[in-house]
Amino acid sequence: MWIYEKKLEYPVRVDKRNPELAKIIMTQYGGPDGELAASLRYLNQRYTMPDNKTKALLTDIGTEELAHLEIVATLIYKLSKNADLEELRAANLIGHYTEHGKALYYADAVGIPFPIECLTAKDDPIADLQDDMAAEQRARATYNHLMNLTDDKGVYDTLAFLRQREINHFQRFGEALQQVQESYACKKVIVQGASITSNVAVAGTTTPNVQGVSTSSNVAGTSTAANVQGTSTASNIAGASKTPNVSGTYKK
Ligand SMILES: [Fe+2]
Repeated sequence: MWIYEKKLEYPVRVDKRNPELAKIIMTQYGGPDGELAASLRYLNQRYTMPDNKTKALLTDIGTEELAHLEIVATLIYKLSKNADLEELRAANLIGHYTEHGKALYYADAVGIPFPIECLTAKDDPIADLQDDMAAEQRARATYNHLMNLTDDKGVYDTLAFLRQREINHFQRFGEALQQVQESYACKKVIVQGASITSNVAVAGTTTPNVQGVSTSSNVAGTSTAANVQGTSTASNIAGASKTPNVSGTYKK
């Protein structure tokens, strides 16, 4: 059940009509790394998360992404609603106008309709949470690109708010991944045919030595310890650290 609050999570201000900007922001509405994709993916994956805390996290973030979808929709509509046909033609939106008028449509910046295959779900919390973390980083990168492409202060501030929320989501998924991995490390479970107990020798890993689930250090891809690119919540990790001077970082 949801309770709908009749106000945006962030107040959208558009300083000037700009259908060309509306067209590129559309990717965060209906593109593969946009808010619709994120929301639907998390609200679907939540059912196969291993504990109530992780299910709740997926529900919380999936719900917030719906609020972000509403913000993006408001941005697009405000930027384009008063554009005349010549302006739409100049913005290469005449095809969109032919099909949809000035209605919004779930497509990316070049008009490709929303791709259902982006809604990944594997019934494997480690795979799904890592995918979610990567999705948050892709969304952050897209907002970076959009911020580089606008000189509208109101639009820029809104995009900056949304970008910051992606960074926050990335960190929360990282914390959930760490918790799931730690719980796996504490009990015998079966993942991809491998019995996960301590001291099980698997090529390329260190103790507890199972590729894909270890919580120990120096395992490419999944470790929660330091110095691992991509998924750790620990410090000094490209794209994930809470320390300054790292791409995509967030300092609390
Ligand atoms: Fe997000």
